[in-house]
Amino acid sequence: MPDSLLRVLACGSVDDGKSTLIGRLLFECGTIQDDVMAALERDSKRFGTVGGAIDYALLVDGLAAEREQGVTIDVAYRFFETPHRRFILADAPGHQQYTRNMVTGASMADIAVLLVDARKGLLAQTRRHAAIAALFGIRQVVLAVNKMDLVGFDQAVFERIAADFAALPGRLGGLRVTAIPVVARDGDNITSTSARMPWYAGPSVLAALEAASPAAPQAERGFRMPVQLVSRPSAGFRGYAGTVASGRIRPGDAVVNAVSLTEARISRIVTMDGDLPEARPGQAVTLVLDREIDVSRGDVLATAPLPPLADEISASVVWMDETPLFRGRTYGLMLGTRSVTGTITDIATRLDMDSLQEEPARELNLNEIGKVSISLAQPFACEPYAASRELGGFILIDRLTRATVGAGMIETARSGRGNVRWHRLDVDKTARAALKYQQPAVLWFTGLSASGKSTIANLVEKRLHAMGRHTAVLDGDNVRHGLNRDLGFTEADRVENIRRVAEVAKLFVEAGLIVLVSFISPYRAERLQARERVEDGEFIEIFVDTPIEECRRRDPKGLYAKADAGQLRNFTGVDAPYEAPLAPELHLPTMQAPPESLAEQVVEELRRRGIVA
Ligand code: ADX
Repeated sequence: MPDSLLRVLACGSVDDGKSTLIGRLLFECGTIQDDVMAALERDSKRFGTVGGAIDYALLVDGLAAEREQGVTIDVAYRFFETPHRRFILADAPGHQQYTRNMVTGASMADIAVLLVDARKGLLAQTRRHAAIAALFGIRQVVLAVNKMDLVGFDQAVFERIAADFAALPGRLGGLRVTAIPVVARDGDNITSTSARMPWYAGPSVLAALEAASPAAPQAERGFRMPVQLVSRPSAGFRGYAGTVASGRIRPGDAVVNAVSLTEARISRIVTMDGDLPEARPGQAVTLVLDREIDVSRGDVLATAPLPPLADEISASVVWMDETPLFRGRTYGLMLGTRSVTGTITDIATRLDMDSLQEEPARELNLNEIGKVSISLAQPFACEPYAASRELGGFILIDRLTRATVGAGMIETARSGRGNVRWHRLDVDKTARAALKYQQPAVLWFTGLSASGKSTIANLVEKRLHAMGRHTAVLDGDNVRHGLNRDLGFTEADRVENIRRVAEVAKLFVEAGLIVLVSFISPYRAERLQARERVEDGEFIEIFVDTPIEECRRRDPKGLYAKADAGQLRNFTGVDAPYEAPLAPELHLPTMQAPPESLAEQVVEELRRRGIVA
């Protein structure tokens, strides 16, 4: 029997009996102290759902007595052991909104215990859990078919569920599955085999866990340590702190910074407990090098074969946010200690949770899993997740709210822009603008339909033109007749609409022009993206602020009337959102002044900023 640590992920909902099963395991492995046991007996009588008998679910769902004493219970990870093995069990609540916990648990687990209610069989949620587990590299599953007593201990029911699971297609085909019929409440087949199901000859849940092998160590790929901190406690000392992701290294060995491609030798391996003769995977160390090379936080110290520097990755993503993931949107990526911005350049497929087949997709919704391509703002040293959890796993961050919105696993990483090189031109933006005696800029008008964006932009352009300024106009209605003729008004299409317009605005700025952009542009994320395409000071966001009642009253194209009548879907302000700017360069409340004076305010602002004289 292997005497090693096994990391277990338990998935299923409370209704499936997961808490009861975990409680049983903890209890029967003797993890529960006497005082806790006494409290459990008391609580079972008061709150239990099993008629005064001990309700093991209460152990996991939290003891009332402990709650009253203010003792915090670790709801995420539980430790237990048998004479043969130690276990860490990550408990992932099964409700949809807890995919996040499941993802956290899955990224560290060797094996998953999936709970199924014998009466219900496999649910979409079971398939989702299995798919996420497989995605995160879990290769072994214990399928605990619970509540067998409620189906009369019927072997056929159990075998049908086990066969259904074995027939799951795609990625799940590679899983090693042990299906076990159980009654968690009564302890059947949890730690000992049940006399009530003599037809079952396999192991109990605990025996299956004891017999499981920890995930195979990842293939030797050489040494890798992402640098977490450049440590300089005193002038004479400079070290690079981090946790070794793979491989081993000793003083005297050569290492390369995989990002700057500079090389040095290890002179010391420093830890809290003194120097080490060798650093191994999982150890937190500070490496001292024999010479000064360029190393910053987020770089990776490595030995050959070096992890490739990539700026184009394809990845599987589990989406965990109410707002869908869209093609064209930019997110923060955190890979271990490193962060970078990345733009979704393609959504290849999404996993259908019923058929587990990949299907084409334009967006990823809450709890969906898909394959996407991401273009990174700077090249990163990374590897496929299958080769390295540390260098291949990342989270996606909403740049405005800072919330974690997705988790991803790199499948391929390559240097895409390496082949499409940026062509340096002798005549640049400054030269072009100088010829026109002007400062290029983007005047970005945002606001509801019929708020007056185009009217004001038109007046501003007339004034600039009269002053001899070279301008260009990008107007939503007009651009949608040409460049963006293929786009409609879904959220995904609007994201792409604004992405393209932001790129065109940038090209016009490069041409030395003052560009007036007039689009509803309802999302903060895309306006931020547009802002970041040009240099600081070149982007002037102008919020044309007209109350929706007034827009509705004006309704020049009769669109509000149609939207209110339900004849036009996704209409901004009616059944599609508008996210007002939080800190625009210019705020124009249109109810307080006529368009001419608002246009004058814009020109005044341009003067103040030195864009026009
Ligand atoms: S954006 O949201 O993607 O920025 P854009 O500015 O290009 O929108 O186009 C808005 C114009 O399209 C509106 O002024 C209106 O004339 C027209 N339109 C047609 N359908 C819609 C809709 N569902 N929502 C908003 N505008 C619409």
